[in-house]
Amino acid sequence: MTPDPETTPVVEIVRREEFSSAHRLHSDALTDEENRRIFGPCNNTHGHNYALEVVVRGAVDRQTGMVMNLSDLTSLVQEKVVLEVDHKNLSEDVPFLQGRVATAENLAVAFWERLQPDIETFEGCRLHRIRLYESQNNFVDYFGPGPAAARISSASS
Ligand code: NI
Repeated sequence: MTPDPETTPVVEIVRREEFSSAHRLHSDALTDEENRRIFGPCNNTHGHNYALEVVVRGAVDRQTGMVMNLSDLTSLVQEKVVLEVDHKNLSEDVPFLQGRVATAENLAVAFWERLQPDIETFEGCRLHRIRLYESQNNFVDYFGPGPAAARISSASS
């Protein structure tokens, strides 16, 4: 049964996963000197203990009381992201990151692209946010391609 949007509560569920990876901030579009100037010590290979939060928004199913089974979300995040990046060099070893500078911003976008199609197959669920902590105090949020672009253009008009 299709949930009634007037009466069905909408809830965000969150799965957090941690992984440890190496990376090097380096753009092939820049010279070695420019890379060193822009990225500083991050132009050298080094590592982070990352934390990834995947937020799914959806209606609470009347029968199950769930938006999406968290064990399904956990399996998806582990299979599509964590197993691919944990204990790897993100700048060299991960096929879906090839050609992208391994910044937290680009990682969040790439993880969204990996997870979004599978999450949409669960009825009434959509991927709402990817939050990626690169360290305790540094993190990025990605809300998908549409809304972010709309927010920037509305802020500048
Ligand atoms: Ni780094």
